[in-house]
Amino acid sequence: MAQKRPSCTLEPEQIQQLLLSCQEAKKSAYCPYSNFRVGAALLTRDGRIFSGCNVENACYSLGNCAERTAIQKAISEGYKDFQAIAVASDMKDDFISPCGACRQVMREFGTKWAVYMTKPDGTYVTKTVEELLPASFGPQDLQNVQ
Ligand code: THU
Repeated sequence: MAQKRPSCTLEPEQIQQLLLSCQEAKKSAYCPYSNFRVGAALLTRDGRIFSGCNVENACYSLGNCAERTAIQKAISEGYKDFQAIAVASDMKDDFISPCGACRQVMREFGTKWAVYMTKPDGTYVTKTVEELLPASFGPQDLQNVQ
């Protein structure tokens, strides 16, 4: 009997496409202060990919991470149901891991979708948003007041 895939498991071709897209997005990184390039590629439920890069600013605190750039692009184009996001950096020996702010922004749009944390050689580890941000605060919590 065919095994049912968990809802956040992608086909191998989709994963490859997402990995290539985040590496491509990394090329656009605007990071003159950190010189730390990051790219992200966000896959919607209906198969579209929105990419993003980090965008820094001379006023350092205004910098935006690649993950949030991709999410903001998708939301502003009318897409808010996500299957997965892949993230790429230039770190050879470590999988790039989203910052706390990005985890919270991902969580806004659900806890059961996948985050692919990659290395430049195309290897990755994957976790759900829930695994990256357990016991989180989300939209439903705002309904739980008397
Ligand atoms: N950065 C990202 O874009 N995503 C991450 O997952 C980690 C960090 C950016 C923020 C800043 O532009 C640079 O990397 C150094 O922190």
